[in-house]
Amino acid sequence: MARRKLVYEGKAKILYEGPEPGTLVQYFKDDATAFNAEKKAVIEGKGVLNNRLSEYFMTGLQSIGIPTHFIKRINMREQLIRQVEIIPLEVIVRNFAAGSMAKRLGMEEGTPLPRPIVEFSYKDDKLGDPLVPEEYIIAFGWASQQDMDDIVSLALRVNDWMSGVMYGVGIKLIDFKIEVGRIYDGDFARLLLADEISPDSCRLWDIETGRKLDKDVFRRDLGDLADAYTEVARRLGVLPTNVTHTPTKPTLIN
Ligand code: TMP
Repeated sequence: MARRKLVYEGKAKILYEGPEPGTLVQYFKDDATAFNAEKKAVIEGKGVLNNRLSEYFMTGLQSIGIPTHFIKRINMREQLIRQVEIIPLEVIVRNFAAGSMAKRLGMEEGTPLPRPIVEFSYKDDKLGDPLVPEEYIIAFGWASQQDMDDIVSLALRVNDWMSGVMYGVGIKLIDFKIEVGRIYDGDFARLLLADEISPDSCRLWDIETGRKLDKDVFRRDLGDLADAYTEVARRLGVLPTNVTHTPTKPTLIN
């Protein structure tokens, strides 16, 4: 059989041509990177967990009417998605100060923000994804004013749903990143939630203990990343069946 065509390889995922025009297969790798790939590792099982978790979040968001690129999960590491034109922005929503915001403003991590704050980085690895004001985005034509209004309201809906779901399993949603894509229906463009939503792209803190259950575990060498992601998956009830192993005692047959 001919090998399927690779469309794009990123740091944590690969996109292959899908079975029908307008579709792609999104493959989740075990690779973890941080600080613009200055730090790298292979974390066994991460891809499987993120495939499941992203499916869980995308289908949940679809169920409240948020359009996403997700079509269906194909297997342990792959999902079928709609091909979109990615808007070159990382859309970040913050509920509590952490990471680059805490550093930039000298705030203590975990400080509640007066309201959710949406910010944008220009997706360009060579430049290190710099934070950009909306003014730049409109002026350079990366997105229109209407797109930006739609993106902010989409991001805030994602935030409300995600915050509630995580709160329900004892986890505080500190911040997260999403990407948005466009599809064309004739002359009309529509926006869809794209890429992935997983502990790679969120900050998730246990409400009781403050334990970090996201990629900061890898960025800051806080322990076993797969353990943290497994804990998130377990609480949400989305653990893939063959990743858990419950040893059983031998039984005597008489
Ligand atoms: P930051 O505090 O480092 O700017 O990150 C904000 C959120 O965005 C956090 O949840 C992690 C996520 N994020 C990504 O998904 N990809 C990235 O490349 C970076 C820098 C952050």
